Amino acid sequence: MKYVFLLVLLCIGGAAGLMGAIIAYRWVHDMTQTPRIVPGERVFSMPAGVVPRGAEAVIPREQRDVAAKVPNPVKASPESIALGRARFGTFCVPCHGPEAKGGVTGPVATKFIPPPDLTNGDLQRQRTDGYWHSYIVVGGAVMPAYGEALSSQEAWHVVNYLRSLGPGGAAARTATRAAKP
Ligand code: HEC
Repeated sequence: MKYVFLLVLLCIGGAAGLMGAIIAYRWVHDMTQTPRIVPGERVFSMPAGVVPRGAEAVIPREQRDVAAKVPNPVKASPESIALGRARFGTFCVPCHGPEAKGGVTGPVATKFIPPPDLTNGDLQRQRTDGYWHSYIVVGGAVMPAYGEALSSQEAWHVVNYLRSLGPGGAAARTATRAAKP
């Protein structure tokens, strides 16, 4: 009788151990351990100096001085500014605030690094359109890159919108307000 009891105990112990091992196995082999492709990470290296068809060269963050000299190909029409404002509302407001005033006007900025006031006249004069376009496409010191979310063209629209918020942009701003109630 004693041996039967021990045998049953052994069976139960073995089954429990097996189930524990399954849980432990699944715990360490979850989704985060599987091979995955991170946005911006290439699975193969591209030959140097090539550009995909139908695309344009992305100037890396380290060459901001080169990017700063690229002229803005998009005219700051009310339509362009309205589109830029829409994209800004989607991607930038969480950090930069609804009026691009920076500081902690954006809900994320209260938990992150407060961004500068983009409507500031001195900053607006100091930066070229190309500089800000590069900031949007490849990111800043801590600001994330938006080259995957926005096309280069859309980034220029956003730059046009930001310009409309600066000194001298008031006329363009009223024009968009009228165009987009
Ligand atoms: C996660 C928060 C965050 C988001 C989202 C974000 N930014 Fe920024 N941005 C920052 C911070 C922080 C700085 C200042 C520090 C730095 O340079 O990285 C900054 C700086 C800037 C600058 C100033 C560059 C300069 O020094 O002249 C511009 C322009 C800018 N952002 C535009 C945008 C636009 C346009 C978007 C939306 C496409 C955007 N940002 C989205 C956090 C953000």
